[in-house]
Amino acid sequence: MSGDAPAPAAGPALPFAFLLPKAAVAQTAGTDAASLEQLIARGRQIFVEETFDGNGRTCATCHRPDNNHTIDPRYIAKLPASDPLFVAEYNPDLKDLEKPALLRQMGLILANVDGFDKPGVMRSVPHLLALPTSIDVEVCVEHGGKGDFCEDEAFANALGWSGDGSPGTGSLREFALGAITQHMPKTLNRIPQVDFRLPTDEELTALEAYMLSLGRTQDIDLSKLSFNSPLVQQGKLLFDVKENPVRNGEVILGETANCNGCHQNAGANSSTTHANPTRDTGVENMRTPPAFLLDPTLAVDGGFGKEERVSCGFSQDHTCYGNGRFNTPPLVEAADTAPFFHNNSVNTLEEAIASYNGDSFNQSPGAKTSSGKDRRVKLESSQVTAIALFLRTLNALENIRSSNSLSRKSMDLRGRNAKETLKLAMADTEDAIEVLQGGTLLPYPEALARLEEALALEKKALHTEIGPLRNLRLHKAIALKLQAKALMVTEQP
Ligand code: HEC
Ligand code: HEC
Repeated sequence: MSGDAPAPAAGPALPFAFLLPKAAVAQTAGTDAASLEQLIARGRQIFVEETFDGNGRTCATCHRPDNNHTIDPRYIAKLPASDPLFVAEYNPDLKDLEKPALLRQMGLILANVDGFDKPGVMRSVPHLLALPTSIDVEVCVEHGGKGDFCEDEAFANALGWSGDGSPGTGSLREFALGAITQHMPKTLNRIPQVDFRLPTDEELTALEAYMLSLGRTQDIDLSKLSFNSPLVQQGKLLFDVKENPVRNGEVILGETANCNGCHQNAGANSSTTHANPTRDTGVENMRTPPAFLLDPTLAVDGGFGKEERVSCGFSQDHTCYGNGRFNTPPLVEAADTAPFFHNNSVNTLEEAIASYNGDSFNQSPGAKTSSGKDRRVKLESSQVTAIALFLRTLNALENIRSSNSLSRKSMDLRGRNAKETLKLAMADTEDAIEVLQGGTLLPYPEALARLEEALALEKKALHTEIGPLRNLRLHKAIALKLQAKALMVTEQP
């Protein structure tokens, strides 16, 4: 859970300058921090409340601010039947807008990514955290003799699970135009100004600023981190390699996991192109995909682009639209945001890592680097466990960063704003505990104890009306979280 800004403060106290991403600042050059902050607050309001005269849904219907801006089956199970997420179940005009069984059991949304004249595909809802780090398209240059990264350039940003999710120039700013048309119409005629209204320029700008303000704005630098648990450090060493070693002309499998070629610094960038890769890693070719068991009539998802192919899916005999490539998500936020992949086909982080062992990946184009080197994956379960604990630790460290940042901010505020901000900080502390506990093995029992102590203090602080006493408790909680961090990782300057 990360950095979601509460409703705007009335008057001059503008609490969220610290959330401002450098990207947003740069794009709004000449705008002072206070007006940018107001823009983010306005964006949040639109994101959470605006229905665009449509079917009652808002952006937050699927991208839940209290759930890392995504949604999953467990969260869905707690919603009342009247929630607009379920509009296809109670509004006969919209009965084909979603597939209710797939929505409820797997958290999947119907998306007509290849045009409304083509069969829709079922996609999971991506979290919207760390967008400034994960949407740069790859520039068309030769890599190791293979000019293999050119197609994405048609889009200003790499967005959606296939990197081609935004209409117009393909920018983050324009994403809302497609989202409203897809998810919010009153009828499936989808006529603008009849079935919904399109956003104004002002609304698009505010929405963009809000989305860019969520979570990290920078990638971490793995080369500077050494983990105090040998188990976690081993996970880092396995992860942070690009290809299999070759000895005496022979490729050695199983010594490395080869993840950093696409997830450099556990983010969403290629270590070669330093931009967000869209790649075919074979997820659509896994055997027994759960969504197809629920609905065998589903179309195979072709990924990037709209070109028709006739040999798609595990059995290689389905028609699909696209070149089979999907967009690489960042992994720092992964432990917090199960299930995994564009089709939510995998339920745990451990299973998502282990899935790289399968034929679906090892026979996919992604199993070779851009210069043709071998990066097939063959991990023992013990190695999968180490990598998962490494990714869980990174997620907890990010939760601590975000929690402390929100907590410090709440100390400068008063009344409702202070409480709202503190609640967000607490949600991050809770997430840090959950991602560490979720690994079942506990490489950092002492850090976990510090985090639990910090959360208890934050709960007390929430009900402490006397400002100085409240802040004293929050200062102690921040110190405890920093101790937890120091117990987990040693950072080189
Ligand atoms: C009915 C659920 C639903 C609603 C409502 C919804 N989205 Fe989404 N959103 C999704 C799904 C599913 C995807 C993945 C789409 C794809 O793969 O192309 C997505 C993807 C995105 C992405 C791409 C993120 C990335 O990392 O690539 C952005 C940005 C986004 N949505 C913004 C919005 C905005 C802004 C609104 C409101 C105008 C909105 N969404 C409303 C379900 C929803
Ligand atoms: C060739 C590029 C490439 C390599 C190498 C690669 N990944 Fe990925 N990764 C992707 C892409 C693309 C996706 C999205 C696939 C999809 O949903 O169809 C992804 C998705 C994931 C996800 C799911 C994240 C989410 O939010 O759903 C995890 C976890 C993951 N990768 C971990 C790893 C690990 C661990 C390794 C090393 C063993 C690795 N990846 C190697 C490209 C790569």
